[in-house]
Amino acid sequence: MTIQKHQFDAVIVGGGGAGLRASLQLAEAGVKVAVLSKVFPTRSHTVAAQGGIAAALGNVSGDNWLWHMYDTIKGSDYLGDQDAIEFMCRNAAKAIIELEHFGMPFDRLENGKIFQRPFGGMTQNYGEKPISRTCAVADRTGHAMLHTLYQRNIRANTQFFVEWFALDLVRDADGDVLGVIALEIETGDIHILQAKTTLLATGGGGRIFQASTNAFINTGDGLGMASRAGLPLQDMEFWQFHPTGVLHAGVLITEGVRGEGGYLVNSNGERFMERYAPNAKDLASRDVVSRAIATEIKEGRGIGKNKDAVYLKLDHLGEELISKRLPGIREIAKTFANVDPVENPIPVVPTAHYMMGGVPTNLDGQVVEYSAGTEKTVKGLYAVGECACVSVHGANRLGSNSLLDLVVFGKAAGDKMVGEIARTTAHKALPADAADMTLARIARLEGRKAGERVAEVGAAMRKAMQTHCGVFRFPDLLEQGVTVINEVAERAQHIEISDKSKVFNTARVEALELDNLIEVASATMHAANNRTESRGAHAREDFSGRDDDKWLSHSLYYKNDHKLIYKPVRLQPLTVEPFVPKARTY
Ligand code: FUM
Repeated sequence: MTIQKHQFDAVIVGGGGAGLRASLQLAEAGVKVAVLSKVFPTRSHTVAAQGGIAAALGNVSGDNWLWHMYDTIKGSDYLGDQDAIEFMCRNAAKAIIELEHFGMPFDRLENGKIFQRPFGGMTQNYGEKPISRTCAVADRTGHAMLHTLYQRNIRANTQFFVEWFALDLVRDADGDVLGVIALEIETGDIHILQAKTTLLATGGGGRIFQASTNAFINTGDGLGMASRAGLPLQDMEFWQFHPTGVLHAGVLITEGVRGEGGYLVNSNGERFMERYAPNAKDLASRDVVSRAIATEIKEGRGIGKNKDAVYLKLDHLGEELISKRLPGIREIAKTFANVDPVENPIPVVPTAHYMMGGVPTNLDGQVVEYSAGTEKTVKGLYAVGECACVSVHGANRLGSNSLLDLVVFGKAAGDKMVGEIARTTAHKALPADAADMTLARIARLEGRKAGERVAEVGAAMRKAMQTHCGVFRFPDLLEQGVTVINEVAERAQHIEISDKSKVFNTARVEALELDNLIEVASATMHAANNRTESRGAHAREDFSGRDDDKWLSHSLYYKNDHKLIYKPVRLQPLTVEPFVPKARTY
């Protein structure tokens, strides 16, 4: 097979918010930058972000980035790195103003300032009461942000490779990353995009679960690429279940509904969050609300024929407010639950939503390896957004901090890459065997008789994750889950794609995506089984709480032998006093 080669200063894998914020920084600096995306960029999953982006602007009531920092650290159940969290919260207001100047059409208050709404875990004065900190464009904030960034990139001459699927990193004998190998989906051709700097911005891998708010494209591609290149995946045991996915459909109903005054009720019509979180109630952090819903269902107070959901009630908010602030939710509820929320409550369940773990990075987005107490950057490789773990979300992300993460660290990584490119005079030579592993991955799918089917192996993986690694985790199920996921991974090595299903290369893409999903699922199951405490979204039935003496540390999972090592959480912020871990209540 002939492999076509191309050279760039920077290659960015992924055209969502993180990738486009970084590419904009590079293109505006005059750097030759390519963005690869397996879908048209404005179809990236950022488009589905609904409720908003957090920043302590104080437009509704007094606010302070230190309160935001405190809330984020507490929300992370103290697993977030405090230097990274300070960096993100301190730069949040600047990032919003910048987006506004790029043309993002934020909703407005009567006085013309940017509209802000309350979101879970966001509080005034270190936990006193909920605060309106989340800036929004109705319930389509991600859509507005993604289109704004895309248009700015067009203006800045970023070069897009649309429907190109990045398959693997090129890493040489020194461990440096020299670009990516990619499949041009339309033709099936293989290309090497050589680059002085490569950024992974591939989003999450939420399709490892059966019930997920994630788009079908969220297959953990960057994590698979990093893992196969011998790099670790950090904190993969921590998955956020969003409290309000539409029952059976999985589609997201924004936390903005509860921010606007909606609330959850059980089959007795009881507003049950008052029992679980007496202060914050429905605006407690997501792990707390999801566990409360799961408990209500487990104890027989679920709604409907199967008692397997609860109701999200918002009819009392009135048609005017719903149409103005939550128009997308009304559409979603009508389409996927056959309910008009102006009149009736929406049946919802906790649904896999966000991956707190990812490829470990420093504050400049540089990928880092850890050994014997020290961190070392991987030359030429960066990661930002949901595929990265910097770590600002720790064991549980606060809603509306993810869009913030994308733009703050997207810009920081872009700046760092511009500097690295300026210092790098020439591209390093590609290793002779650069594409061998990738070609072998593709070749194994061809010409096999009676092999495994992608859909069936994928279904087995999703079932394993849903059964063995859900909202509550049980020791025996976790242990069995490790065996089951190892078996699924083995089956994935024997996949066959028939000639008939090769049309447009979609079957080939799905099989290669499954390789990535399996890396994500394996890392998750092994790391979850090994962490013997309950922290944030990792809630074990056999451990009632956090164990800071033993587990105030990040897991690092390696594909080879499923090795797990641990590194301490960075408790020292950049310029302020640390927030000392304490009991977490809402
Ligand atoms: O509920 C939501 O609108 C989701 C926001 C987020 O995950 O940050």
